[in-house]
Amino acid sequence: MNISRVSMVALGVLAMTTGVGAFAGKPAAQSNDKPAGWNQGGGEEDEALVYTRKFKTMTPEQLKKVRADGVAVFEVCSACHLPEGWGTKDGTFPQLAGQHVNVIIKQLADIRAKNRDNPTMYPFALPQEIKNAAPQVGGGAYAIAAVARYIHSIPMNPDNGVGPGDNLELGEKLFKANCVRCHGERGEGSNEKFYPRIQGQHYKYLLRQFEWIRDGKRRNANPDMVKQIAGFSDTDMKAVVDYVSRLKPPKEDLAPSPDWYNPDFD
Ligand code: HEC
Ligand code: HEC
Repeated sequence: MNISRVSMVALGVLAMTTGVGAFAGKPAAQSNDKPAGWNQGGGEEDEALVYTRKFKTMTPEQLKKVRADGVAVFEVCSACHLPEGWGTKDGTFPQLAGQHVNVIIKQLADIRAKNRDNPTMYPFALPQEIKNAAPQVGGGAYAIAAVARYIHSIPMNPDNGVGPGDNLELGEKLFKANCVRCHGERGEGSNEKFYPRIQGQHYKYLLRQFEWIRDGKRRNANPDMVKQIAGFSDTDMKAVVDYVSRLKPPKEDLAPSPDWYNPDFD
């Protein structure tokens, strides 16, 4: 690792000031494009999933190399998502650490295929960009699988951003009635079904995604979730997302302290 932690963060800030502004100014027409069918598979997503099945049959020695490859690719990502994969409390960058492998693969493949708009990240997630940073890994489906496997293994932020906490009773009621069947009792999600883990995620990121899913702006959203939350008012939305932001992941998935540094990026 020859890029210093400071320069990586600086790159992130640079990207924020250029990219996120462009995001806000995105023409409305683009977000009304015909929605892509949800998780129809194909392309890079399927290819990367084949690698995850191969990983299951590999020796510990072979997996060591896969892990090193994942670290090498993650160096690109750490510019914004930070070396710990914790993102930022203000929700600009989501926490990725601990997310299900299949979810990371789907989201990354969707972003690269432009099924999910993410102009801030898009140029950095392109095959050539990853290949430049990690020539030994390449920028294709294997790189996606290796980085997803690595990200899933990073311990999560024990101190994520939470909401104002002023409407949690309503939040709990709405969560139990509308979210549990897919995201689970504690917001743990499901790797197999591509349902994201939402527990421990930053409130402001959750809020933005929830709103975009409700309002049809996130084009890769699950249509059944869209239906489920169609009647949510802004008050309902804030209450349920606040509640979710306070659902803690199991202790064994958390870093020992909010000051933890990822030793893979010294
Ligand atoms: C220039 C900054 C930047 C870089 C570099 C970057 N990302 Fe992102 N990423 C973002 C932003 C911003 C979002 C959230 C976009 C939104 O709000 O819709 C995001 C979202 C994601 C998501 C979706 C998370 C979720 O919960 O749905 C995944 C997965 C992801 N990034 C993976 C990666 C990986 C893997 C890399 C490295 C190959 C990477 N990112 C590099 C800025 C970046
Ligand atoms: C029918 C299943 C289903 C239901 C019900 C559902 N969700 Fe989801 N949710 C999903 C799936 C699948 C995704 C990922 C969509 C994609 O592929 O991009 C998602 C994504 C999200 C995201 C974005 C996560 C991220 O990392 O970007 C949030 C936040 C979320 N759901 C919150 C909720 C809340 C809160 C409720 C209840 C009010 C709810 N969902 C109900 C299936 C569901």
